[in-house]
Amino acid sequence: MHSHHSTPHAIRAARPESWLRPILFSLAASILFAGVLAHRTAQAQGASLFQGADLKLGEELITQHQCAQCHAEKVGGDGSAIYRPLGVIANAGLLRGMVEQCNSALNFQMFPEEVTAVAAVLNRDHYRFKD
Ligand code: HEC
Repeated sequence: MHSHHSTPHAIRAARPESWLRPILFSLAASILFAGVLAHRTAQAQGASLFQGADLKLGEELITQHQCAQCHAEKVGGDGSAIYRPLGVIANAGLLRGMVEQCNSALNFQMFPEEVTAVAAVLNRDHYRFKD
């Protein structure tokens, strides 16, 4: 039974496009690296309110509190369309205030420095306020 299927499998495994894979992989890796560098630069120019914020903690809290899941229910996609840098929230202080408002309204019980960390991540990834 199984021997009937072994030949086509062997042929498929040796398909010619496989030589392309390492090239595509390194291309993807360098694009990713450029993205990381761009983020670093944006961070360096970021709002003073978020200077020294714990971005890794912010990312963890955003995952933990399922911010994106709820936002996605409202606006679809990955939920990031809820973040409107050209809307009412027009600077770093208002952004942090909005996160604080969600924090109390949804009873996340985040500490002030955690609210700052979350807002700093949103600023880095979506709002990009300089002040
Ligand atoms: C239970 C649902 C829900 C959860 C969980 C949630 N949000 Fe929201 N959030 C909303 C809704 C709804 C809005 C849109 C309010 C409006 O403009 O009508 C919103 C709006 C926002 C905005 C304002 C966007 C803008 O530019 O106007 C920010 C910032 C925000 N949320 C941050 C967060 C963060 C950070 C978390 C997680 C720590 C979070 N939210 C968790 C429902 C949620």
